[in-house]
Amino acid sequence: MPAAGPRTRRRRHAKPSNTHLLTTLARRAAGLERTHPPADHTRMNAAALSNTALAARDLRHVWHPCTQMHDHAGLVPMIPIVRGEGAWLVDADGKRYLDGISSWWTNLFGHANPRIGAALKQQLDTLEHVIFAGFTHEPAIELAEQLVQITPPGLDKVFFADNGSAAIEVALKMSFHYWLNQGFGEKTRFIALTGSYHGETLGALSVSDVALYRKTYAPLLLTPTLAPSPDAYEAEAGETDRAYAQRCLAAMRKLLEEQAHETCAVIVEPLVQCAGGMRMYHPDYLAGLRQLCDEFNVHFIADEIAVGFGRTGTLFACEQARVTPDFMCLSKGLTGGFLPLSAVLTRDAIYEAFYAEYSAGKAFLHSHSYTGNPLACRAALATLQIFREDPVLERNRVLADHLARRLAPFRDHPQVGDVRQTGMIAAIELVRDKASRTPFDAGERRGLQVYLHGLKHGALLRPLGNIVYFMPPYVVTEADIDHLVDVATAGIEVALAG
Ligand SMILES: Cc1ncc(COP(=O)(O)O)c(C=O)c1O
Repeated sequence: MPAAGPRTRRRRHAKPSNTHLLTTLARRAAGLERTHPPADHTRMNAAALSNTALAARDLRHVWHPCTQMHDHAGLVPMIPIVRGEGAWLVDADGKRYLDGISSWWTNLFGHANPRIGAALKQQLDTLEHVIFAGFTHEPAIELAEQLVQITPPGLDKVFFADNGSAAIEVALKMSFHYWLNQGFGEKTRFIALTGSYHGETLGALSVSDVALYRKTYAPLLLTPTLAPSPDAYEAEAGETDRAYAQRCLAAMRKLLEEQAHETCAVIVEPLVQCAGGMRMYHPDYLAGLRQLCDEFNVHFIADEIAVGFGRTGTLFACEQARVTPDFMCLSKGLTGGFLPLSAVLTRDAIYEAFYAEYSAGKAFLHSHSYTGNPLACRAALATLQIFREDPVLERNRVLADHLARRLAPFRDHPQVGDVRQTGMIAAIELVRDKASRTPFDAGERRGLQVYLHGLKHGALLRPLGNIVYFMPPYVVTEADIDHLVDVATAGIEVALAG
């Protein structure tokens, strides 16, 4: 860009008066002002809306999550997305990317899904939001009814919040408060699994064990007791995942023998510990944990925020162990990836411990301004309708089989320590040494090479460290899966050569 002289620069940056700006905005809001430029400005506008221009504007003011912003100074491109079409995203320059990670595991039925979109458009013209204390609305009522129907039996009450971490906060507080109301005030602690991830607000981060997120903030956090994860990757040579699950249950029993009196709940991600590296385990662990929690009078919190809504092959992961947790946390896919919403389902018996005369001071105290937002509830209802009308789980089984077939050759790769899959989640673990399963040093950022290769070749893959995983929207085709695996295969070779 040519250097502008002081006078030019002053004129270019001269701000319109506040009055002019407000009038313009008001006219625009009322639809009185044209927001599209006249035709002769089209080329100028195209440049202004290019990847380069939008990324530059973004980087001037926006601070992105989970990002060392310095990476965007040259190493990693910032990609402005202008449109979504099913499983594909389209950037401002028209380049297409297959969303292999469902946009942080939220999207189920494709971007800009017309069925969810149509339901939302109708809701937009009816009611956008209302305070959820003292007021209610049909989308929330209907959604609560449907969630009670489709989740494991015995979960009869629904508490809404507005994102996954908030749902975890709700479950932790509700569990603690239940015990307090029941006269067990000494129960103030939680047990979590090694390698677990439950979100990044302080409570949710407290029960998480992924060093990348937790280490820096550790001085601010509650200290949970960590129990060994039944992660099958950690099993001894020759030990089955099932046997390893039993060994971990024995360790959990020991912990509960010592600590149940001061423990509110055990919190787990059923079947797959996602952010911890797509670590997978046998359903027997959940069945055994249910029994232990009953025996030791401790709650069982199932965080199905990432694994719920069909990801693991069943609608909810807990179904594979035939267990009903005391709290089930849902979010992400709940709205098909359209809007933030979460729900914590619990048992009538827990609800009743809070139900008393106002003067008893037993009410559950937790509120977010956007609790039970009608638009988000409507998106969730449209999502559940798709599950009812389409053979989603059956189709996913076919897709998952195809993905498994395509990933099978990686088992023989000299620098792959593991290939694992549960339903529509699959992962390849890259290692420095196959025999000892020595990992690559995180600082080598091998996964980033796969990510960058993916961007160049039209695939959004976002490895977790050395773990390249696939968690696509359910609307992908077998050809889409082939594309993802082909790009990942080449990307892995680039990363390993680096
Ligand atoms: C299992 C699990 N729990 C909780 C969360 C937190 O959800 P959110 O990012 O909406 O706060 C996540 C997010 O990835 C998750 O995977």
